[in-house]
Amino acid sequence: MFAFGTNTMIAGNLLRRFRSFVAKPDAIDSSLLAFFVCRVLQVSSQLAGTLSTETHPKLNWQQCTISGGCKTVSGSIVLDAEWRWIHQVGSYTNCFIGNIWNTTICYSNKQCSKNCQLEGADYSSYGISTSDIYLLANETNYQPFRPLNQEFSVDVDVSALSCDSNGAISFLQMDLDGGKGRFGNNQAGAQFGTGYCSSKCPRDLKFISGEANAEGWTPSNIDPLSGSGNYGSCCGEMDVWESNSFANAFAAHSCDVGSQNRCTDAACGTAAAPYSGVCDPDGCDFNAYRLGNQSFYGPSKTLDSNKKIMVVTQFVTDSNTADGMLTEIRRKYIQSGKVLANPTVQVSGSFNSIKSQYCGNEKSLFGDVDAFGKHGGLNQVGKGLGTGMVLSFSLLNDAATRFLWLDSRYPVDKDPSIPGVARGRCGPEPPATLLVDPGAQCVAVYSNIKFGDIGTSGGL
Ligand SMILES: *[C@@H]1O[C@H](CO)[C@@H](O)[C@H](O)[C@H]1NC(C)=O
Ligand SMILES: *[C@@H]1O[C@H](CO)[C@@H](O)[C@H](O)[C@H]1NC(C)=O
Ligand SMILES: *[C@@H]1O[C@H](CO)[C@@H](O)[C@H](O)[C@H]1NC(C)=O
Repeated sequence: MFAFGTNTMIAGNLLRRFRSFVAKPDAIDSSLLAFFVCRVLQVSSQLAGTLSTETHPKLNWQQCTISGGCKTVSGSIVLDAEWRWIHQVGSYTNCFIGNIWNTTICYSNKQCSKNCQLEGADYSSYGISTSDIYLLANETNYQPFRPLNQEFSVDVDVSALSCDSNGAISFLQMDLDGGKGRFGNNQAGAQFGTGYCSSKCPRDLKFISGEANAEGWTPSNIDPLSGSGNYGSCCGEMDVWESNSFANAFAAHSCDVGSQNRCTDAACGTAAAPYSGVCDPDGCDFNAYRLGNQSFYGPSKTLDSNKKIMVVTQFVTDSNTADGMLTEIRRKYIQSGKVLANPTVQVSGSFNSIKSQYCGNEKSLFGDVDAFGKHGGLNQVGKGLGTGMVLSFSLLNDAATRFLWLDSRYPVDKDPSIPGVARGRCGPEPPATLLVDPGAQCVAVYSNIKFGDIGTSGGL
């Protein structure tokens, strides 16, 4: 068993966002991936440090073809750069403490990038952890996935994830080398988990495009370990699985930019103008509960979140080839030896998958801004998938959103009987007690990852 940790020197402020991560590759075949425990951590530069060495835990997965069956690929995983210790070059002084930069060292982004370095993660120490890990092909590159005309399957166990948490699996259009080639000042690269981006164009990242995000940094007033800088990091995103034991969704996000892109101001989307950015922050989502089927998913429901679930996602193109245009994202589940189709829902027509028509109908039925269509819709998502995506696994407890959009009602001030407002059965009020026993309450296990030709990975 491996536990992600940071150097004990900085393990002061442990009650972060209750994020933490323990990867537990299977003792026999290393195919069991992840095991997240909600606890914490602290950290972050893009200079590669040398105080802790970086040894990536192994993670095997299967590549499947119609002609050749499934073959094991040996890969490994890397902890996101954001969750690492950053310290002054040549000293143990933290560049970032709590939710603020040390402005003596980090008075400008450029200076900060020179003065600070990112440390290797000690995957075998206890304690800390992460929101994100990525699958690596080798020491310098993330594993590229091109999901068009392919399917992806993974076993998930989210039985211990409570309301307010989100265990997610996504394809992100990150640079395959973490940005090391494109940004000369990024000396760390994929080996250190750099280059995160998403369609939410997050501004809470400490480093973007090889440079610190210290200028304009505003500490969060609700999260003692988070804040946001002037820049954000945008890219295409395909959320295959966002979940806790009470709710789940999958969602495609379209984006104008064809690769990781640093944004500023309106191009990131702002609180006042959330849809002004270059990407679609909301996505075209499929959440059975939100779509009116409240009995499909949950503890002891049709798809029982108390048990392991195989989640199969298929990316269908118009030509049934990898060069075609993405036209549909299909989903099926396999549990206890039985195939469960994605439920059919009524969205001004019957649908059981994500299609362009479904997305447009959903946005109008729910009265949502159609940022998905504005940024090119499913066709644009397909272009992104064709370029090679990075597979990310995460577990989050986010003080700002509390994932009410996933498992509660959202917006919270709206009547839950209005179509699209009710997302899941969690209450909108904060939990009475915090997750004080993270091991017991906040664990997700991902295993049996397969990728390949449609019809080959699902097992049934
Ligand atoms: C900030 O960095 C300076 C320069 O290394 C150091 O002297 C100071 O103690 C640091 N401040 C904190 C709060 O760590
Ligand atoms: C690492 O993996 C990438 C992506 O599969 C590949 O292009 C590259 O050649 C590999 N590098 C080495 C040194 O094996
Ligand atoms: C929910 O989906 C399941 C599986 O497709 C179906 O059996 C059930 O009738 C649906 N319930 C509602 C309320 O639509």
